Amino acid sequence: MRDVVVRVVVLFATLTMLLTACGQAAPSTGGSQSASPTAAATTAAPTAATAGTTAATGDPILIGVAVAQTSNVALLGQDQADAAKIAEAYFNAQGGVNGRPIKLVIQDAAGDEQGAINAFNTLINTSKVVGIVGPTLSQQAFAADKIANQAGVPVLAPSNTAKGIPEIGSYVTRVSAPVAKVAPNAIQAALNINPNIKKVSVGYAQDDAFSKSETGTFQRAVTDTFKLTLGTVQTWSTKDTDFTTQATAFLNDQPDLVIISGLAADGGNLVRQLRDLGYKGLIVGGNGFNTSHIYSVCKEACNGILVAQAYSPALDTPINKAWSEQYKRQKNMEPGQIPAQTFTCVQIMVEALTALDKQNPLAGMDLAALRTALNSQIQGGTYQTPLGEISFTKLENGGGDINQKQFYVAQIKMNPDGATGTFEFIK
Ligand code: ALA
Repeated sequence: MRDVVVRVVVLFATLTMLLTACGQAAPSTGGSQSASPTAAATTAAPTAATAGTTAATGDPILIGVAVAQTSNVALLGQDQADAAKIAEAYFNAQGGVNGRPIKLVIQDAAGDEQGAINAFNTLINTSKVVGIVGPTLSQQAFAADKIANQAGVPVLAPSNTAKGIPEIGSYVTRVSAPVAKVAPNAIQAALNINPNIKKVSVGYAQDDAFSKSETGTFQRAVTDTFKLTLGTVQTWSTKDTDFTTQATAFLNDQPDLVIISGLAADGGNLVRQLRDLGYKGLIVGGNGFNTSHIYSVCKEACNGILVAQAYSPALDTPINKAWSEQYKRQKNMEPGQIPAQTFTCVQIMVEALTALDKQNPLAGMDLAALRTALNSQIQGGTYQTPLGEISFTKLENGGGDINQKQFYVAQIKMNPDGATGTFEFIK
């Protein structure tokens, strides 16, 4: 397990100097990272990374994006909409799909199943998109992806990490590596910081499919992989705001490590209340913590939370440099995992459409045939993305699950203002 944690050094100071030397805004150590989740991204402008290419023109190809723009889940979903818009501008500046632009149709999937179902139905039947990027939560995917699957519309999941997502159907493919591959790396990182960890308390949001799946992985890793003692297991709802009961139970359990599987709002509030009650030990947060919007929820109590990552902004590849440069220009900070995964979904749509168009011009295809061909093309491809090289394993009775090689762990470092911070990658 120790080998699984890939060693990454974040050359933040060097990067800052380089970007400053290039006349670009240096990534902030937090200045704008507490921006409201409802703040809209500005439209990306082509940069040096796109110089020499011809911008796409003509009739656009419509790609649906169904992510949470309202509700607490917008803490994650706004990152996704912003990243998708950056990808749209970036790939259109690169020439789109053999000269034809893409156009994203962004539909608010809100934070629940019905919101995602409504967004999918609108995108499929009214907007008539070729495929859909979304939804934000696994809980929503288990309800909405079935609709796309029945309609023969490819779905690319940017953030659904629960076990069983690609098994929903043959039109479902995810770029978000599953909890089993990612989450245990954070426990190893905690043990590297404190080798004396013996007892681990665990909690999860019981009304959220991803949180239930992730806690299962965490609990098995605690007992089976790391041979640690599993203490109390606490539960709550993603809608809860008062965590006195759970925080008190954690304190009474006297753990060396607390692992929390929830979404940003409930998970962040639990961390704050746990620290307020006096817990001093290490905390691992799951994939629901993976957004800079968490800073505004747990504030200074976010400091030190360990979060496993399926993306590193330090990955030294042309596409990751181009993407992170675009992101930093607009957001004034390093991109995180969830925006990077969303950019990757749009990239895969564009590359698969481009390959398909070369074999069989898209203009001559009817929509149903195009959607089916696009699905096969997506699942059959290999892509150089900000996440590294990825491809998909086509499941016998389902869709495609990601093949990804590199995983990381970051630790939240809050700034003295208690409102802004960074995800610092650790060795
Ligand atoms: N990773 C979270 C989920 O799958 C956002 O729901």
